[in-house]
Amino acid sequence: MKNIAVLVSGGGTNLQALIDAVSAGVITHGRIALVLSSNPDAFALQRAERAGIESAVVCHTDFFDRGDFTHAVVEKLREYDIDLCVLAGFMYILSPEFTKAFPNAIINIHPALIPSFCGDGFYGLRVHRAVLERGVKLTGATAHFVNEITDGGPIIMQKSVAVEEGDTPELLQRRVMEQAEWDILPRSVELFCAGRLAADGNIVHILPEDKK
Ligand code: GRF
Repeated sequence: MKNIAVLVSGGGTNLQALIDAVSAGVITHGRIALVLSSNPDAFALQRAERAGIESAVVCHTDFFDRGDFTHAVVEKLREYDIDLCVLAGFMYILSPEFTKAFPNAIINIHPALIPSFCGDGFYGLRVHRAVLERGVKLTGATAHFVNEITDGGPIIMQKSVAVEEGDTPELLQRRVMEQAEWDILPRSVELFCAGRLAADGNIVHILPEDKK
């Protein structure tokens, strides 16, 4: 059984999808051992409490710089013996100490089809605004491993979502979450916990289920 930490800063709907996936038996090889929030007021903390999951707040304003903040986050994750970190709306880019401490063991969910609409500056509603401005007809979400390049790590799973006439960034954000993010994030987490993800450079292979 793998120990999962979910890192959040806000509403935590992806955290909720993970909690629900554990209850529903979609995630069976891992448990959420810790919810770590960068924001003491994040609603995600209430979701953790309701589900009986331990939580911690590591607030960036309490630290001198990004390196110090990252160090505190890594220490907290070590305290809980974490095997997998899930970035679920975590609003800070951590320093390389984080990716070095968890090589190919950090999963992020990005609300677009990487390599489109990703990288520095593409977060939250900005992503969906850019999608609508470019006029693409398909968008979606990507679950990927995190490395030192923003949204540049190996892709685990993607799911497309149609852009519809009359969409606003808010409507599109909601549809991408409902149809893609809340589906592929828990499934990617389960594959990792079951030992079925093998990263080979940029390519992630999904290994067949062990039929013992
Ligand atoms: C999601 O759109 C996710 O793709 C992005 O941040 C948002 C988090 O939303 N990384 P929530 O806090 O999980 O509701």
